[in-house]
Amino acid sequence: MCGIVGYIGTQPAIDFLLQGLQRLEYRGYDSAGVATTKNKMDDSATGEHEKEPIALCKTVGRIDNLQKIVTDAHALHGIGIGHTRWATHGTPVAENAHPHLSQDQKLALVHNGVVENYQVLKKFLQSKGVHFQSDTDSEVIVQLIAYYVKAEEAKGFKVDSQEPSLKKKYAPLVTAVQLAVARLQGTYGLVVMFQEYPDLLIAVRQGSPLVIGIGNNGHYVASDGATLAGYTKQIVYMADHQLALLTKEELQIHHPHDGEVKHLIEPLEIETREVDLGNFEHYMLKEIHEQPQAVRNTLRGRLNDENATAVFGGLNLSPRELRNIHRIVLTACGTSWHAALVGEYLIEEFARIPVEVEYASELRYRNPPVEPGTLLFAITQSGETADTLAALREMKRKGHPSLAICNVVGSTIAQESDGGIYLHAGPEVGVASTKAFTSQCVTLACLALYLGRIRHLNYEAGGRIIQQLRQLPAQIEQVLQTNGKVQELAEKYHKADNFLYLGRQYNFPAALEGALKLKEISYIHAEGYPAAEMKHGPIALVDAHTPSIFIMPQGFVYEKVMSNLEEIKARGGPVIAIAEEGDDRIGKIADDVIYTPQVEEFLQPVISSIPLQLLAYHIALLRGCDVDRPRNLAKSVTVE
Ligand code: AGP
Repeated sequence: MCGIVGYIGTQPAIDFLLQGLQRLEYRGYDSAGVATTKNKMDDSATGEHEKEPIALCKTVGRIDNLQKIVTDAHALHGIGIGHTRWATHGTPVAENAHPHLSQDQKLALVHNGVVENYQVLKKFLQSKGVHFQSDTDSEVIVQLIAYYVKAEEAKGFKVDSQEPSLKKKYAPLVTAVQLAVARLQGTYGLVVMFQEYPDLLIAVRQGSPLVIGIGNNGHYVASDGATLAGYTKQIVYMADHQLALLTKEELQIHHPHDGEVKHLIEPLEIETREVDLGNFEHYMLKEIHEQPQAVRNTLRGRLNDENATAVFGGLNLSPRELRNIHRIVLTACGTSWHAALVGEYLIEEFARIPVEVEYASELRYRNPPVEPGTLLFAITQSGETADTLAALREMKRKGHPSLAICNVVGSTIAQESDGGIYLHAGPEVGVASTKAFTSQCVTLACLALYLGRIRHLNYEAGGRIIQQLRQLPAQIEQVLQTNGKVQELAEKYHKADNFLYLGRQYNFPAALEGALKLKEISYIHAEGYPAAEMKHGPIALVDAHTPSIFIMPQGFVYEKVMSNLEEIKARGGPVIAIAEEGDDRIGKIADDVIYTPQVEEFLQPVISSIPLQLLAYHIALLRGCDVDRPRNLAKSVTVE
């Protein structure tokens, strides 16, 4: 996925474009660029201001590289667009970076998404004499729009500068954009600017997110709301098929069939401090340390002591309807899929409802038999993961109520689901998901509590769950104090080429999650298994250079896990244990131990994941890896 920004107003566009792209780097960071041009930045401008060429600059690498090549000329321009790229078509070289210019240099465009039929369109345009500058699918869009602008002009249609209605005034441009996007197959969030009409931006959304900020001195466009923190408190979430016309003063949104639509202006409740790095070296470390507050925010207003239950406002299903649910399907990808596995244990334990956990990429094509009375939850931090969105659409198509557990308000999955639960964990920028995972587990615990209490779970059990949840933020604060000990382990083990992560029951998903954290930011091969599975093959991997990490709090399977640990010790494998304070045995057997606060089993995945997040972070640093922008990855995978 890629990050898009745009601005039109009375301030220099470049300031927002560059900061916005910094904030969007988590969406892609192999190349970046901006395009600006002069508009009547303030009302003192009189007469026809000279039309400047579009000032374009783009580069490979990070936004810092772009910052170095932006010229002073940009500072005079009140309209601009910008883009940070995660390459889908075309290698990450400057020519393939966005913005892309039309052949006549009169249009500039940024795009997030995939144009599946770009080859056919490229051939059509080449047959019309268009010469392409890049290998990307995105360039096809700007050339196609330019083709239709020329066609409209050839019919004698002109921009009528005296026309008060935006859509009528810019009718030729709107028509050209609509004709072009009508031919696109795939997904796009795009913003286009016109050198001859520098008082207009056009944004179109189809399958890739776009939000619009209502500013005091103009309008902003971005791929997500967090980018606009500090610039506006008012936001409009564009929906699919919508086209937005933005000038300094006005915003109009149109739908190809419904005409102009009344746009809903919603509050943007994200503060600048939530999206900027602050005093931390990396977003991942910041977000690891934000987990106590993130869990407090997730729990806020959701625990009802009087009835010993949880409270949700967005399920859009009554208790009666929920009692008629006989199966729950949890679908997700990556870390969110690990949270779904925790959710399976939680819901089956507290509510006694059978749960199926499905990889979204499988569910979207597998077509399993699904009986009536099945409820789907799509679990996703970003709300933009293509596989998860497709799985949600597939289940909705078959008539099953489909809800979302999501962290980004107004995201595509949040918009398309039949309702759901927001994590309220705050923006998660680091590619490696941390606070979203723990907030997802807590949200699923609250959901399991709620479902249980409208079925068989008694008041006392509900009260105990609430009491455990209320203590959790303080216990997370406590386990964050193991950072020093974790750093020592990172020093000791960071040269290993393979790791095993092992746990049972609730801690099996935690083992998978710990392995994924290490893999994705340190590039070390790591695998998670149910501890008992070792005997069925993986134990062949054990040698003196392969550390095994056992998640083994006290509990009814402790002795079983201890046996698995000893089987590995007997074969010379080094063992690290994540154990509970008060365990006076483990220290005599394991090579190293990280002690965590004692919590009930259903919260162990939350507590044990935190030292594993820290371990992955410190090992990655020691191996010189880019913790926030690991190679080959993007924060949200919006392509198949
Ligand atoms: C987790 O650290 C990864 N960044 C990745 O597995 C992620 O969890 C997955 O792509 C799902 O993303 P989502 O939660 O935004 O849908």
